[in-house]
Amino acid sequence: MNIATMVAGRIPYGKLEHAALAVSGERIAWIGDAEEARSGARAAGIPLEEAEGLWMTPGLIDCHTHLVYGGNRVAEFEQRLCGASYEEIARAGGGIQSTVRATRAATFSQLHESALIRLRRLMAEGVTTVEIKSGYGLELAAERRLLEVARDLGERLPVSVRKTFLGLHALPPEFAADRQEFVNRVCGPWLETLAAAGLVDAVDAFCENIAFSLEETAQLLEAASGLGLAAHVHAGQLSDLGAAELASKWGALSADHLEYLSAAGARAMAAAGTVAVLLPTAYFTLRQTTPPPAGLLRDAAVPMAVATDCNPGTSPCSSLLTAMNMACTLFGLTPEEALRGTTCNAARALGLQDEVGKIAVGMRADLAFWRIERPAELCYGLGANPCAGVMHRGRMRGELN
Ligand code: NIG
Ligand code: FE
Repeated sequence: MNIATMVAGRIPYGKLEHAALAVSGERIAWIGDAEEARSGARAAGIPLEEAEGLWMTPGLIDCHTHLVYGGNRVAEFEQRLCGASYEEIARAGGGIQSTVRATRAATFSQLHESALIRLRRLMAEGVTTVEIKSGYGLELAAERRLLEVARDLGERLPVSVRKTFLGLHALPPEFAADRQEFVNRVCGPWLETLAAAGLVDAVDAFCENIAFSLEETAQLLEAASGLGLAAHVHAGQLSDLGAAELASKWGALSADHLEYLSAAGARAMAAAGTVAVLLPTAYFTLRQTTPPPAGLLRDAAVPMAVATDCNPGTSPCSSLLTAMNMACTLFGLTPEEALRGTTCNAARALGLQDEVGKIAVGMRADLAFWRIERPAELCYGLGANPCAGVMHRGRMRGELN
């Protein structure tokens, strides 16, 4: 075996705390005792990245973002502070529609430039995999541009990108008189074209009173399954339509938000293995008061993931550590659950559980190094960034600091 490098540090919540691992190519080839690794590395002349004073975790995974978009929604933020609700603004043609206008007007490089700023912030906090949704184009060319920007970011930067076609996000005004035609295009020619171009890992729909119905969402899930594509569903953010049950019925990888999840919904998710993606910074931004039922999810053994939902309307947040903090303070997760939520469970939410999200032999060598006293400190600070370095696909992004 060709060992390129070895790393020694502390691994949280495992059997072997003072550990070392060997990296061969992009993958973890061996895990063992740090002392053994040091002498082995010395004898064989293999470079060893000494991170003994640091903790190492799997590289973090942000499994739900909308980080490519045009413009911002700061005016709407002010409107909401003056009493307007998210639904009222959406119904009046603002909300998602205002970002759609700004996104359609933006060029590839404008979209790229603004997304890059947000992506770099995520990466600086140890993120090695990020999911990026389209959904602010809502016409074929603009949706394609968003997905191409997402693909390009993943090709240029040391971060892995998963691309999701959020075709059913909002009804664009040109289809106001014919919603069925819009849904047909999204689920038919648009999805087929984008998938054929290799731009779609999964689909998504915003299943909600102010967005798309269960039937419309089902049409997209059926089309995706016909093409062998995975699915996510924005479910139960503002009301309970039964979207979590629908997502589970179609074997969606995840149902996301879930503030209004019922016990039946949680049971359906558990039976289907659908991951609950919790988005506490969106909940916080909308000043919602009904948190997702974490106890119900825990009791039903539904895996819980935590993500930023980075978007200009409901979660102008590019800090996954902040989302982990709020998953604890607002939703009652333990720090260990929050960390699982941004590592192994987030990997599962993307169908990548055999690749990333765990420090184990055979997994990709995606690691984050932390200058913290104990693992819970990852969730403790607000605006603190204890990340001391990152390895992506077996290569350090820079020096440990
Ligand atoms: O995840 N819920 C739908 N989509 C986004 C919000 C999009 C927006 O307001 O621009 C979300 O919260
Ligand atoms: Fe979202």
